[in-house]
Amino acid sequence: MLLERHLDDLAGRVLTEALSLAEPAPALLRPTQDPRNGDYQVNGVLPLAKKLGKNPRELAETVRAALAAHPAFATAEVGGPGFVNLRLADGWVAEFLGAGLADPERLGVPTTDAPDVVVVDFSSPNVAKQMHVGHLRSTILGASLVDLLRFVGHRVVADNHLGDWGTQFGLLIVGMRAFGDEAALATDAIVELERVYKAASQRAKSDEAFAESARLELAKLQSGDPENRALWERFVAVTRVALDATYARLGVRFDEWLGESAYDALLPGVVDDLLGKGLAREDQGAVCVFFGELEGVPPKLKKQKEPFIVRKRDGAFLYSTTDVATMLYRRDRFACTRAIYVVDSRQALHFEMLFALAPLLSVPMRLEHVGFGTVLGEDGTPLKTRDGGTISLASLLDEAEARARTRIEEGIAEGRLKIAADEVAAVASAVGIGAVKYADLAQNRMTNYQFDWDKMISFQGNSGPYLQYTHARCRSILRKGDVDEVAARRAPLRLEDESERELGRRLARFADVVYAAAETCHPHYVAEHLFQLAGSFNTFYQRCKVLDAKDDETRSSRVGLVLLTADQLRKGLSLLGITPLERM
Ligand code: ARG
Repeated sequence: MLLERHLDDLAGRVLTEALSLAEPAPALLRPTQDPRNGDYQVNGVLPLAKKLGKNPRELAETVRAALAAHPAFATAEVGGPGFVNLRLADGWVAEFLGAGLADPERLGVPTTDAPDVVVVDFSSPNVAKQMHVGHLRSTILGASLVDLLRFVGHRVVADNHLGDWGTQFGLLIVGMRAFGDEAALATDAIVELERVYKAASQRAKSDEAFAESARLELAKLQSGDPENRALWERFVAVTRVALDATYARLGVRFDEWLGESAYDALLPGVVDDLLGKGLAREDQGAVCVFFGELEGVPPKLKKQKEPFIVRKRDGAFLYSTTDVATMLYRRDRFACTRAIYVVDSRQALHFEMLFALAPLLSVPMRLEHVGFGTVLGEDGTPLKTRDGGTISLASLLDEAEARARTRIEEGIAEGRLKIAADEVAAVASAVGIGAVKYADLAQNRMTNYQFDWDKMISFQGNSGPYLQYTHARCRSILRKGDVDEVAARRAPLRLEDESERELGRRLARFADVVYAAAETCHPHYVAEHLFQLAGSFNTFYQRCKVLDAKDDETRSSRVGLVLLTADQLRKGLSLLGITPLERM
């Protein structure tokens, strides 16, 4: 159950009945700004008083008395011009938590009653270009959104919109023939393709004949020439193998790999359709959409001078054309109701223009560009290798694992960590990769963030390893107490100590947090919840004896709180793509 939604509905019903309203009115329940005033406040009385022409404090007093009589609330007080401040009753919170504890599968998180069919378009690297840290954010964010949306009950299509078509292939074909190295292609395809591509574009700048032959080979490829087609297929296949290895390390999966090439045959039709509907027109030989000339577009685009080009003068189609085709395809093939594009914020304008075309093309989808900022190095500029190159994702993950291993070995030597020798490698990998993911997902995605190895791979502070460690600690308490989980899940909970009351209120918000993260595409809400939960748990564990509590009821209630904390850390970490560890 969603705590806040449930309380809001409940308070709305109480308010409607207390005031004998003919039509139900909303309570507009919100968390209080200042916890000294209580847990929640009802804001719905003021607008109602205005509408009914009544004194707001008097109305608030009637509502207060009715709310105070409800078992969910310990106290209800009128505040300000006519708010009602509410404090939850500990017994009610404990019962609410009991339902989550009894449900190890879903932890009390309901499935949505309004399921969408959602395409999540993420990762989407380009063939012949190293997948680098820029694509890391899209991959990590997108994978987490896929899991969050699925958990909430949406039908999700995880789609890798691979950049596998376009002008780079002309250069790659001539480049491969001129200075390709077959052996290197077999061992490290992405590196070799990138090397060839760079060399070829370099040469094309000074060698017009070379540039011309690249254009020729591209045209041949696009018209289906078997030899070029075979080469292209090889480029894509070897890239796939390398990408698959990286995705396997990250534990990321896709349902579809509908790259740009999948839409090639549809592109002429898209342009004809746009022309036919009067949405695009010719301009100096190119075909363009001028938003300033169209009805029903957002004001910002109305003023925009640059067009959305869908066919170049030389007849070539563009990234834009492919994205229009993709949008129509998703509507027709998956009957999508929502599409999420996890792509660098620098592409914001492209998506604004694309989405503005949707209603004009009868695409009834909720379209969202889930943008994100840049990953910065320790010096505050975009993350690079020492010699200024782009850092490959594979070497970054190698380093994360190596650094995690060092920290783990230190921890073992100092007696802080207890990990069997044959488990160190697996734990180091889970910690290293989890640390990279957490550092990314704990940020609001729109902000740039600084890559800081020491902070990232620390067992203290707001880090992935700290949360994995806290989870392992909860599990170790349960092992030590020889807890029978099935029985423990049925035990009544009690919130008595201040730290139990605080932990309980935190735990009760889990479903709200998960729903908010999935709805707004902000996995950092989950990260924030887990970090605060770990803090509340540690305070509780310092203050309250669990396994040697004063009596059986207290022990089983506290064991229940430990189990529920472990459940939420496990589920929450998994939703962020991080492996929860049983022991550390
Ligand atoms: N391949 C593109 C890039 O690396 C990202 C594609 C994102 N998806 C889309 N439908 N445009 O910039």
